[in-house]
Amino acid sequence: TLVELGVCEDIEPFLPLLRDPEGHEILETAYQLTSIIKSTQTISTATDRAAKIVFALKSYSRQTPSGQKVETNVIESLETVLTIYHNQLKQGVEVIKNYPETLPNIWGYPDELNQVWTNLIHNAIQAMDNKGTLTIDITQSKNDICVSITDSGAGIPLEVQSKIFQPLFTTKPPGEGSGLGLDIVRKIIEKHQGKIDFDSVPGKTTFTVSLPLST
Ligand SMILES: Nc1ncnc2c1ncn2[C@@H]1O[C@H](COP(=O)(O)OP(=O)(O)O)[C@@H](O)[C@H]1O
Ligand SMILES: [Mg+2]
Repeated sequence: TLVELGVCEDIEPFLPLLRDPEGHEILETAYQLTSIIKSTQTISTATDRAAKIVFALKSYSRQTPSGQKVETNVIESLETVLTIYHNQLKQGVEVIKNYPETLPNIWGYPDELNQVWTNLIHNAIQAMDNKGTLTIDITQSKNDICVSITDSGAGIPLEVQSKIFQPLFTTKPPGEGSGLGLDIVRKIIEKHQGKIDFDSVPGKTTFTVSLPLST
């Protein structure tokens, strides 16, 4: 029980307690107390996470009124999606974020941009079979913001590369893929006057989205 309480080296001060006839019971109580503290910490962490997810879901589904573009922060939008995927990612995916310290807002449709990151990150996780490294790079140039999402998965075979943006094209079994993801992504990016490119070799696939700063 002492070891379970975290005492393993300096047991000297505990010796009288061990000799005490009541010692066992005292230790037992102390042990139960520490278990309660540990459980409370677990509950508190879980509550924090649940609150974050609720917040993320709320901003995820925020509707853009009357189809007008609004000021949108690309980092916030990516972070919202990463929060929703947090549980899935933490099982075996290391996430590396290279964000600039400051990033100007762009004009866009935040809920639709969330769908872009969701689809790209979902594809990346599926390509890595839930294990590997997901790298998110954000850079800013004079006219654009550039977001690259890189996974360490198997890559896109050459003969498939020309088809991935076609609606209904999928290499995944039913239930895992509808083949609509990248078609939707492309349409949303066009709506933002942006561009999407990809580059894929086995072990490294990058989708790069650039979004214009003005308009
Ligand atoms: N990160 C990626 N790594 C490897 N292949 C990918 C990746 N992203 C997309 N693909 C390929 O593109 C196809 C189409 O993707 P998508 O339009 O999102 O449809 P779905 O994911 O439903 O199959 C996928 O089935 C897959 O073969
Ligand atoms: Mg997909």
